[in-house]
Amino acid sequence: MKKIIVLGNWKSNKNIKEAKDWLEKFNQLASGKIKFKGEVILCAPFIDLPILKTSLSKIPSNLAFSLGSQNVSSFEDGPHTGEISANMLKNLVDYVMIGHSERRTNFNETYETINKKIKICQDNGLKTTVCISNLEQLESIVRKFPSYDNLILYEPISAIGSGKTENPDVSNEFAGKIKKYLKNAKVLYGGSVKGENVKNIVNKEFIDGVGVGGASLDPQSFWEILKNA
Ligand code: PGA
Repeated sequence: MKKIIVLGNWKSNKNIKEAKDWLEKFNQLASGKIKFKGEVILCAPFIDLPILKTSLSKIPSNLAFSLGSQNVSSFEDGPHTGEISANMLKNLVDYVMIGHSERRTNFNETYETINKKIKICQDNGLKTTVCISNLEQLESIVRKFPSYDNLILYEPISAIGSGKTENPDVSNEFAGKIKKYLKNAKVLYGGSVKGENVKNIVNKEFIDGVGVGGASLDPQSFWEILKNA
């Protein structure tokens, strides 16, 4: 049986107090009840990562919980005011998310920037989740990293935040394509994943898990996803 990965992406939400409250409520819900055998990756804003890191020990021990950032600088340490470098994320996160469609669109992240970020994470021993929405974005990664073997999060733009997932058969076909190029990568689907649709998605042959935006903000709805996956 495949080990399912559920990645939560809080995006630009939750101050430190809200992050602590989330964790407390999640623990109450999950404590002693959770049967989820896969991996949970929580991608939180930079400011929340230290408190989440120290609180992870309180997560029920039968749940494999990893931390992720939502971005990283394309520069090493140095005079780059306001940037968070890969070196700064070492020993704090397990995964770095790169190239989310909101960053590609709203922050003009180019293929070149994204490839620089992947390389810098590899150089610093950080695992990556690279987000793509189409074949062209996939090909740009494959050209530079033909043996990429971390996570690819496939998120069709029209499904993000729309309340409606892509047809899981279509997503599965695209996930199969990704695996033809990158045979050791794990592929997650993202876009309007919820407790009531997650099973139909993770049951698909080439899909190893899901990326969850909106539904990860509320501990109850995130927990529903884990229960149903
Ligand atoms: P959504 O977001 O679950 O709110 O659709 C997914 C994402 O952008 O990662």
